[in-house]
This record gives sequence, structure tokens and C-alpha cells, in this order.
Amino acid sequence: MTTPADLLTRRSGQLSEFIAISSRRRRHRANWAAHEMRTKETILRSVERADPDGTAILLGSGHLYDIPLEELSARFGHVALVDLAFSWTTRRLATALKNVSCVRHDVTEALAPLASGSTKVPRPRALVDDDRITFVASVNLLSQLPVQPGRLLERQGVAPAIVETVQRGLVENHMAWLSRFRCPQLLICDRGYQVLDSDSQVIETIDPLHGVILPEPAASWIWDIAPFGEVHRNYAVRNQVVAIDAVTRPH
Ligand SMILES: C[S@@+](CC[C@H](N)C(=O)[O-])C[C@H]1O[C@@H](n2cnc3c(N)ncnc32)[C@H](O)[C@@H]1O
Repeated sequence: MTTPADLLTRRSGQLSEFIAISSRRRRHRANWAAHEMRTKETILRSVERADPDGTAILLGSGHLYDIPLEELSARFGHVALVDLAFSWTTRRLATALKNVSCVRHDVTEALAPLASGSTKVPRPRALVDDDRITFVASVNLLSQLPVQPGRLLERQGVAPAIVETVQRGLVENHMAWLSRFRCPQLLICDRGYQVLDSDSQVIETIDPLHGVILPEPAASWIWDIAPFGEVHRNYAVRNQVVAIDAVTRPH
């Protein structure tokens, strides 16, 4: 009720998901700590390639659990956080740091057309021509991009094969968009969801990227996202996370 977000973000289920992340994180703070630390360290290593006089863009910055905002604010002339919604905590911190702005934006540029019945996935165009941007990072966002739009299309009665094509298109177009920035890029994302049985054996790996192949990662680690009891008493889920320094268009 109190988190500012536009109507589409509310209707598409994205706002509920945004709030659900923070409850899940409260329950599993200790399990998520290593992943959040790895993400922050990876971002700080990656920005060494970037001109600090410009603007750093952080896509999917959300609740800032995995964003080293103070360090980025000290390093860059300006930092722009981009997400569909921001908590008041994030807004207050951004105001206090003075050179940080919160930009509410749908990075897929697809939510509005999909919500009004289109099944064509647009190519995102925002920001790529802005020469003030000297660093761009997509942070634990890519696997989330197809989730709510997929549910939206299912509710509209769209055929499963078309939903799948749209979801894959959202992943591909995000990567193509990142590859067009004329500055160092960083993509941190889930590459696989591993389902573990009660003996902690991997019994299934789910592809959250709908078949899109990623470039070779510079680093990878495990995010213990749903320990036993979160989704099921006898099963746990963990994410395989990768960090990619130079994003290329998927083939
Ligand atoms: C798994 S969270 C990433 C973790 C986040 N960095 C944090 O610390 O909370 C994914 C974030 O992506 C945002 N997101 C999902 N779809 C988006 C879209 N189409 N455009 C912009 N942000 C989006 C969500 O609102 C959420 O904050």
C-alpha cells in the first residue's frame, strides 16, 4: 500500500513480487549473505574498468541487498538506480547520499504493450545513447524479467507456445540492450535453479532463461535461495549465479 509504484507495476504482479522478496530475505538472511557479498564484491571489482567521472547505472537495484551503494556513490559522479519500485528505505538513503537518483522504469519496455494485448516483444532503447553513462550493471534481474509477464499472458489466455516465445524474447532483448551500451557492462544473473532432495542431491535443474545461452562467465557461485522448508519440507532450491563482464547479443 505504501510502496510507490505505477498501476501497471501493481496489476502485473511485479509490486507483490518486489515486496515478497523482502519477506523471503528476512526469513533467509543468513543463507543469502554469501550471495549478496559475492554480488557486491563483483560489482566493486567490475567498476574499476569504468570512468568514475560519469554515471553508473544499476538495473534491478530493488531493495539494495546486493548493491554496494555507499561505495558506488563515493566512486562515481552520479549513480542511477533503476527498478519498477523503490522502498522508502532506498529512497531515504539515495537522498542522503546526494548523488544517487531512483529511476522507476520497466527495463523491458514490454509491460505496457503486453498488458494491452500485444505479444510482440519490443527492443528496449532507453539510455543506450547517453554518453554520460560510464558503467551499467544488471543485478540479479535477468531471470525475473519473464516471470510476471508470463503470468500476465497466461491470465489473458495466450497459448503456451507464444508465452514461451515472449519469455525468451524478454531475456534475449535485455542482453541485446546491455550489449549496446558504449561503456563497461556487468551482467549478474541466475543461470539455473537446482532442486535438491532431502539427501541434498540435485534432482532437477530448471532453466530460468528459456533456452538463451549466456557468454562465458568471469565468475560463478551458488545462491542458497530456498532452503528446506521455504518451498517444501523435503526439497530445497538453490540458484547457480554467474557474472559476465562483456555482454554479447544472444544468437
Ligand atoms: C531478485 S530482485 C534483485 C535483487 C535486488 N538487487 C535487491 O537487492 O533487492 C529483482 C529486481 O528486479 C526488479 N524488476 C523485475 N522486473 C523488472 C523490470 N521489468 N524493470 C525493472 N526492474 C524490474 C524487481 O522489482 C526486483 O527489485
